[in-house]
Amino acid sequence: MGTEEELMERTPERVLVIVPTYNERENLPLITRRLREALPDVHLLVADDNSPDGTGRIADELAERDDHVHVLHRPRKQGLGAAYIAGFQWGLREGYDVIVEMDADGSHQPEELHKLLDAVAGGADLAIGSRWVPGGKVVNWPAHRELLSRGANTYVRVMLGIPVRDATAGFRAYRAATLEKIGLDAVESQGYCFQVDLTLRTVRHGLRVAEVPITFVERTIGASKMSFDVILEAYWRVAAWGITGLPDRLRRRG
Ligand code: GDD
Ligand code: MN
Repeated sequence: MGTEEELMERTPERVLVIVPTYNERENLPLITRRLREALPDVHLLVADDNSPDGTGRIADELAERDDHVHVLHRPRKQGLGAAYIAGFQWGLREGYDVIVEMDADGSHQPEELHKLLDAVAGGADLAIGSRWVPGGKVVNWPAHRELLSRGANTYVRVMLGIPVRDATAGFRAYRAATLEKIGLDAVESQGYCFQVDLTLRTVRHGLRVAEVPITFVERTIGASKMSFDVILEAYWRVAAWGITGLPDRLRRRG
């Protein structure tokens, strides 16, 4: 039944979820199980930075038992951005259609991933799971973390003039073509400002960004890797992008 074209349309897209890990030995098996149950067709790539707590070995054990789980071992802690770039390159080489970013600590709920995938299927080049749009929520975050995130996002909007409420969000789905277009080789961001970097590149390429409300749940196991260095890098890089992008912004305003 159906023409060849219709059959083509029904071919499910291949989705890869990249989970970066640094000392997440307890969280990794839990998040893997939740993802595999929520969306059984989706593949998972663990990008581990040679975690001292042995997360890499646990990832290998999970991969041995499940052909939907893959592992990318990195030699040392090189930051979230570098781990994701390596993961994206792996995913593009393997021919996935949609590539997802998701934290290992349960803050991003695999049960909500279908919302991001729907947005991409509906035409978004990048779907961001957003805390700061109507319907978005944060559970159990201390006041200083909420302030940091809201402050960072206000700073980003003022400096860069992009219409995104949660540009630092780490739960997102990229169409593979988006990652091919925006030039991953040129990305220098090491830490969490990598998220803003890729958002800005996507917007500057005239691609479509959709924000989908999600509930971000603070981790109950392990510790955040957010540090002063990570914050500092974000502040100076965003300022630099703001300055280099200024002539263009002024021109567009006329
Ligand atoms: N491979 C690797 N290398 N993984 C890392 C590194 C690194 O250098 N740094 C952090 N990770 C992993 C953690 O193991 C976790 O799976 C995920 O990245 C997020 O790290 P957290 O330390 O839990 O981040 P957070 O909860 O403080 O920050 C969240 O909010 C940020 C700001 O909105 C995350 O969602 C970030 O992605 C987001 O930018
Ligand atoms: Mn976290």
